[in-house]
Amino acid sequence: MNKPIRIALTKGRLEKDTVALLEKLGFNCTAVHEKGRKLILPVPDANMEVVLAKANDVITYVEHGVCDMGVVGKDTIMEMKGKFFELVDLGFGKCRFALATKKGYDFYRGYGVKTIATKYPNVARSFFEKKGMDTEIIKIEGSVELAPLLNLADGIVDIVETGTTLKENGLEVIEDVAPVSARLIVNTVSLKMRHAEIERLITLIEENV
Ligand code: PRP
Repeated sequence: MNKPIRIALTKGRLEKDTVALLEKLGFNCTAVHEKGRKLILPVPDANMEVVLAKANDVITYVEHGVCDMGVVGKDTIMEMKGKFFELVDLGFGKCRFALATKKGYDFYRGYGVKTIATKYPNVARSFFEKKGMDTEIIKIEGSVELAPLLNLADGIVDIVETGTTLKENGLEVIEDVAPVSARLIVNTVSLKMRHAEIERLITLIEENV
């Protein structure tokens, strides 16, 4: 038998939905449910192995071919780019990138360079470049909503899911940047070398999302 197909899953928010999808396909994910602190889990009968990783690392492992496939948010793909095929929109993990400011703040007023705080500097930069707008981008690691509240930034480019975090902190969306959802990505060499297996899996996934 071939070595197992390795699929890297983004730990956390996307993990549950991805495991639910694999189970819908008829795969036995008991080992993933009972993982404890284990990071590589077998999916018996499917000749598959699940690798649990952080979003950015899912892309790194797939790009380098140590994982054949990965499930990762479009947000991470837009920020990291990289060489791999993005083959299926899985339809879960839906949210959006948006530009938000303090409620009532007139962001586009005046000609001064605006400061933007974000966990996604490449996404923010390309959004404002397309507008031909000069901005200063400051990278923040988490809870970006703090930056305008502390007057570090005029606005933020961040993920908005329910909108609760913005609302509870007196911020509001002033513009949508891009829709986000989970995507299935595939290593370029794996797709050639293990074409039949991967294609079978992708067809199965497409029938079930
Ligand atoms: C994300 C995002 C927002 C929040 C949005 O942060 O950066 O802060 O979720 O969700 P909502 O619209 O449903 O309120 P995450 O929880 O990943 O934490 P972090 O900011 O510490 O990275």
